Amino acid sequence: MDKALGDDGHRAVPPGERSELMKRIFSGVQPTGNLHLGNYLGAIRNWVQLQSDYECIFCIVDLHAITLPQDPDELRRHTREVTAAYVAAGIDPERCIIFNQSTVAGHSQLSWLLGCLTPLGWLNRMTQFKEKAGKHRENAGLGLYAYPVLMAADILLYKATHVPVGEDQKQHLELARDIAGAFNRRYDLAYFPLPEPQILGAATRVMSLRDGTSKMSKSDPSDYSRINMTDDADTVALKIRRAKTDPEPIPEDVEALEGRPEAANLVGIYGALANLSRAEVCRQYGGKGFADFKKDLSDLAVSVMGPIGAEMQRLVSEPGYVDDILRRGAERANEIAERHIKEVHDIIGLLRP
Ligand code: TYM
Repeated sequence: MDKALGDDGHRAVPPGERSELMKRIFSGVQPTGNLHLGNYLGAIRNWVQLQSDYECIFCIVDLHAITLPQDPDELRRHTREVTAAYVAAGIDPERCIIFNQSTVAGHSQLSWLLGCLTPLGWLNRMTQFKEKAGKHRENAGLGLYAYPVLMAADILLYKATHVPVGEDQKQHLELARDIAGAFNRRYDLAYFPLPEPQILGAATRVMSLRDGTSKMSKSDPSDYSRINMTDDADTVALKIRRAKTDPEPIPEDVEALEGRPEAANLVGIYGALANLSRAEVCRQYGGKGFADFKKDLSDLAVSVMGPIGAEMQRLVSEPGYVDDILRRGAERANEIAERHIKEVHDIIGLLRP
């Protein structure tokens, strides 16, 4: 270990690591089914843009998925489906590493090591645990509670510097930074970079089509609450037609969307799909009723999402191709992960005789 002092007073990382620390992205999606427009606009679409400027690692986080019960066959199917979604959306499996989390043992290993220096108080603040555990907190699994530590391990295992996600992951990323800082302080080293959240684009929080105050989510019992990436054109049109709105027309002034969550959500979705700001959408549609707007919105959604959904279906019908991508991705991810796990073991003092 290089003992020279880094800028922040901690001992610096070995020189060979410097270039690796420059710009590396890690992000992931849980294979829990019903991939939707929020996952696409809030995350996957941004990754496609970022792949030319960063070294990118995109994971299908199957170990996170099992923090809640999953049917084994469905879990396998959804893992292939998320992989297909990445590729269909335009992520290049040659340029980027695409793999499923459980194939790289380092995620579980680092999660334990980081768990040993994460105070319970930090985990008790996590709002997602409170939401998912609900009223039956005592029956919630340890995995669900430790979920954010595994997420920190995902990112830190590769010493990722940037993490592009939707807004709902912000609190987890702050925790990942805190955990990285705790490790660095404990061992007086600048070993882990503090990962930067990248919450990008016009649709960082896409809301439910049935309730503009709750997030579009894979687990909403109503399929009408979301547009799935695999919905066909008729289904998309029907869901948008049925989407909740209010009786007022679209305002000319974007400020007037305040207090109209459903209208604001549909305008936001249109803007994100058309690469326009909400203000531009309001200028274009101001004074028009929702019937016309919804017709245009469904045409636009179908034109953007239709080809991606069709390509996803085509890819999942070729599981051999998808599995090859995951196998190759796991090999590449493991190369980095094993090296870092060894370094972390050395730092902690875990003997490798
Ligand atoms: P997950 O599977 O819930 O969601 C995947 C990505 O989609 C984003 N997202 C949304 N964006 C905008 N509007 C929405 N309604 C919406 N719903 C979901 C999420 O913010 C996310 O970027 N904990 C993560 C998975 C994860 C991870 C990681 C992410 C595990 N380890 C390490 C980054 C780095 C999750 O449950 O995502």
